[in-house]
Amino acid sequence: MKIAVIGAGWVGVTTAATLASLGHNIICADVNVSRIQKLQAGEVPFFEPGLLDLLTEGIRAERITFTGNNRDAITSAEVVFCCVNTPTGNDGITDIKALVAVAKDFARHHAPQAVFVIKSTVPGGTAKKIQDLITEDATLTNHDGGFGIASNPEFLAESTAVTDALRPARLVIGTNDLSALETMKRVYAPMLEQGIKLFSSDCTTAEVVKTAANSFLATRVSFINEVANYCNAVGADPMSVALGMGLDPRIGMMRPGVGYGGGCFPKDVQALLTEAERQHTPMTVLQATHQANYRQRQLLYGRLRQALGDDVAGKQVAILGVAFKPKTDDIRDAPALTFIENLLADGARVVAYDPKVKSRLVREYSGLGWASSALQAITGAHAIVLMCEWQEFVDLDMTTVKKLMAGQVVVDGRYVWSRQTLEELGFTYVV
Ligand code: NAD
Ligand code: UGA
Repeated sequence: MKIAVIGAGWVGVTTAATLASLGHNIICADVNVSRIQKLQAGEVPFFEPGLLDLLTEGIRAERITFTGNNRDAITSAEVVFCCVNTPTGNDGITDIKALVAVAKDFARHHAPQAVFVIKSTVPGGTAKKIQDLITEDATLTNHDGGFGIASNPEFLAESTAVTDALRPARLVIGTNDLSALETMKRVYAPMLEQGIKLFSSDCTTAEVVKTAANSFLATRVSFINEVANYCNAVGADPMSVALGMGLDPRIGMMRPGVGYGGGCFPKDVQALLTEAERQHTPMTVLQATHQANYRQRQLLYGRLRQALGDDVAGKQVAILGVAFKPKTDDIRDAPALTFIENLLADGARVVAYDPKVKSRLVREYSGLGWASSALQAITGAHAIVLMCEWQEFVDLDMTTVKKLMAGQVVVDGRYVWSRQTLEELGFTYVV
């Protein structure tokens, strides 16, 4: 099938490469010219394990091309996947400007019977709004044939995007149109033949499945973080408690720590809270999830300050891991950034290191030092703060670390080290 993918970010590029691997012919478009140029040169503009290989396979098989012009991608496509960003504004409302712009491009240029698929994460009711927008504005509609709309939310997580997209736990397809559903089943036929589950529903239900799923996953994180705080107070081991609970498959594995960040949980939780408020169905559990998440960062920062004798000014602090989680270079709403801001405001000398994040990504923090290795960041530090559980931090030889440091405070923001071992080595272990 000829398929257009609009938006060449994490979701767009992964979707393009995945659909090409299913045998489809893909044109991927983005308004960001430098992104498209990189992709045309065979590069992935961000770090995502395995994505370059899958993309290269698709390009070599002549199944993927890139363009800076949405129209070029849309005109001959049977299906148009919209994978643009849908940020949450300061008012908590999802900004669907980019989605509306692409829907208008679709309306003007689509082929007869083409299906517009919303893959971006959006509030319940958005597909209906888009459908009304296209049908009610006569100046927009390409009258040479009808069109379909479907919601096909994406559940991939960064760092495992490729395997998540190739072998999803389920495919969610929402549409109110039988013919669009049949088209979507043809898109995913190879996956359905492999036995991957299909959940089909109306558009609004599919949209809410996505936002509620992310909010639920975020709630587990805030929950286990509060349990961890309690464990530390009573002398239980937080990581072991999480493991012990997680062996029940109804609960699953959780990692306590400094809280969630990234381009999705924070914005999607905020968006659902606002939408629920607007519908007069406030979500008090989710409100607590959100508050607990940001409180956790400040609690941990307070414990670091206390361990430094409430005298942070002039102290050297090493930040290990700036990305919001390991195996990505994504720093959107990363807990490390909160620590960097607090420490710089309190007059500390901050040196950060991350295996994949480039120093240019954090250049707006004037005064922030950047190291090219963990050991360089640690050298001369009064405290080290682990914010992201990259394996190379887990594997650090803490005896060497102790010798290189000027102080002895270790903040273990992801519970990767053993309190007992570190305390025996003479560290002040902070969680
Ligand atoms: P991203 O910011 O990495 O990429 C979005 C791309 O869309 C950008 O390259 C941008 O230039 C492009 N774009 C914006 N307006 C455009 C337009 N009018 N025409 C063409 N291109 C345009 O975003 P992402 O992380 O890939 O997320 C995309 C959507 O998928 C969001 O709604 C997000 O919530 C959702 N999502 C993201 C993930 C993830 O792990 N990143 C997972 C599941 C769902
Ligand atoms: C998340 C979801 O896992 C995906 O299913 C979803 O598609 C995606 O959001 C999205 O909609 O964009 P992602 O943000 O990439 O994916 O990463 P996660 O692995 O879920 O982690 C999110 C944050 O929670 C990270 O900061 C991570 O460190 C934190 N986290 C996660 C914990 O602190 N503990 C955990 O047990 C799990």
